[in-house]
Amino acid sequence: MHDEALHSGAPGTSALLVDGKTFTINGNTVSYQFHVDGDTGDLRTDHFGGPITGPIPADPKPLINGVPTELPDRPEGYTVSELKYQAHTIVRGKPGLPGLPATFGGEEDVTTIIIHLYDDKSQVAADLTYSIFPKYDAVVRSVSVMNQGTGNITVEVLASLSVDFAVQDLDMITLSGDHMREAHRERRKVERGLHGFQNSTGFSSHLYNPFLAIAHPSTTESQGSAWGFSLVYTGSSAVNVEKSSQGLTRVILGLNPAQLSWPLASGESLSSPECVSVYSNQGLGGMSRALHGLYRNHLMRSKFVRQNRPVLLNSWEGLYFDINHSNLYEIAKESAALGVKLFVMDDGWFGKDYPRISDEAGLGDWVPNPHRLPHGLDSLVNDITALKGTNSANLWFGIWVEPEMVNPKSNLYCAHPDWVLSAGTYPRTELRNQLILNLGLPEVQDYIIACLSNILTSANISYVKWDHNRSMTEIQTPSAAHAYILGLYRVLDTITTRFPDVLFEGCAAGGGRFDPGILQFFPQIWTSDNTDAVDRISIQLGMSLAYPASSMGAHISAVPNHQNNRTTPLEFRAHVAMMGGSFGLELDPKKLLPEEKASLPGLIALAERISPVVVNGDMWRLSLPHESNWPAVQFISEDASQAVLFYFQLQQHVNEITPRVKLQGLASNRMYQIEGGGRYSGMVLMNHGLNYYFGSDYGSKVVILTKEPL
Ligand code: GLA
Repeated sequence: MHDEALHSGAPGTSALLVDGKTFTINGNTVSYQFHVDGDTGDLRTDHFGGPITGPIPADPKPLINGVPTELPDRPEGYTVSELKYQAHTIVRGKPGLPGLPATFGGEEDVTTIIIHLYDDKSQVAADLTYSIFPKYDAVVRSVSVMNQGTGNITVEVLASLSVDFAVQDLDMITLSGDHMREAHRERRKVERGLHGFQNSTGFSSHLYNPFLAIAHPSTTESQGSAWGFSLVYTGSSAVNVEKSSQGLTRVILGLNPAQLSWPLASGESLSSPECVSVYSNQGLGGMSRALHGLYRNHLMRSKFVRQNRPVLLNSWEGLYFDINHSNLYEIAKESAALGVKLFVMDDGWFGKDYPRISDEAGLGDWVPNPHRLPHGLDSLVNDITALKGTNSANLWFGIWVEPEMVNPKSNLYCAHPDWVLSAGTYPRTELRNQLILNLGLPEVQDYIIACLSNILTSANISYVKWDHNRSMTEIQTPSAAHAYILGLYRVLDTITTRFPDVLFEGCAAGGGRFDPGILQFFPQIWTSDNTDAVDRISIQLGMSLAYPASSMGAHISAVPNHQNNRTTPLEFRAHVAMMGGSFGLELDPKKLLPEEKASLPGLIALAERISPVVVNGDMWRLSLPHESNWPAVQFISEDASQAVLFYFQLQQHVNEITPRVKLQGLASNRMYQIEGGGRYSGMVLMNHGLNYYFGSDYGSKVVILTKEPL
């Protein structure tokens, strides 16, 4: 029996091909195939990689073990289970994942197959869902388990995806880091044994981003096979890569089993988050572009996703906690004169009985501080939004909140000490003097929804920076961690649906919660509390392995930099920040040098001009900061008519020639105009390259290229 889906994968194939009990999922340059084992009813992985059609040769029988499988299972406390194939369902389009963020698309974008499995001993059913987005070579998977028996069961482990790679040498690439040092690429060979990480912080964290790439040892940025796995989840996660004794490599991503133990009464079910997997034969760059395209078009749902974001000035590094009506108004006025479009009041504006004048008190009490804002929030917002920017439009106003947290010094905590995550009578560990509200409780979710709704309806607020500044420590039960995330998603869904015109920016002490789950609701995330431009190149390029530039907040801050004391030229800081989709300033404009003040309007105008290419274009990492003194990045507009090259020099080396930078992805036979001079073919730009001389440390160039009409 052949059952073909509506739209095509690779030429000559269909997105989904069912041949008896063999299932083949095809993208433009990917095929994923598995079949039902006739003897056991298990699902066996056949292939995940470049496209295939027709029969594939059977592997010789393994000597001892190591049979590839789609669902390594083990329910009910026993060491065995028998989840056997029962039936499958094909859905044109993609069903939602109740309570969890998920990629989406219409019938023309995506096709789904759901494999129904059942263990008649434990009476547990499992649905494996596979959705193919052929245009992005992306297969999205999730699993849901249902207790169809009469007793209670506990789900101890639930991964989203398990895939087995045939015997071959593989590397794994992860994004690890710490506060102010997010998303550092680490590449290592997959040796025999278990590799990976379990993050138990309760948020996607600075430590291990929920992302994994697998590549051949010879795979580079632009060549070779690369597989990307990205978990659409904001909480604790686990990523395991295991090479077996006989050489197969199994990759598993999903919820962290150390924080699950999810009770399932008779008739109840539990869904895993979904895991996106992409394959590219154009190296890690191709893998990233597939993920970026998928996320921009089929994950992020804010109306701002494809728009230029307003250039903002955030008060944090300029004023820290020392804010009030008049100094905020003053810097808003200065910002407007420079070309800023959105003024953001960061931390320090709220709390009455426990004023938020430092990080010691106030979180939870979302009322304006009557001393700092004596005329109220509304009056400050009115004054600031009455200011006109250089484009004669009124300034937008934005606000900082950290709604999931509470300081013990707050009215909220006095009233509801039982609302926090804690473990009975064990001590409650404070981090940054704060505790986490238990978002698993519906009353806490409702409180946060009400607070945010009040703030957003009390004044003309166009932007919210939603912060989250600590990890979980003590929790009520292991399952409280996942219950928290489900509660968080309910809150985010409600608020972003209720206020669709507000631009939301996620933040967790910088990029601690940079994950696809958050991106469903917030189109941009503050990439790092480290605003040093040199460090930012690594952090932003690291994040770009999985996430589009459009999702990154990046600001020019003052020098010497507040985090590492480094001094870099304004232009270099600005050019690095322009590689993020949300460009801004994070400084006190009154403290700028006269020459900095003079050049900022031009730099802001440049950022705005190239923003459509950065926000919606394809990104090519041409050279990497941990490999080269001359990192370079290129974006190509969606219609391929414009390219923007970012080219940096970290240090000036005496008597050493700057290497040429070779562009990628251009049309070989077309001519390109370089703004400021030069006209070359795509072939010359890609095979010969461009060269620049910088002459000092921290040099930078932004080069705009326009394809000439035929
Ligand atoms: C976190 C954020 C910063 C700033 C402070 C305010 O650290 O990452 O950008 O908003 O909180 O307290």
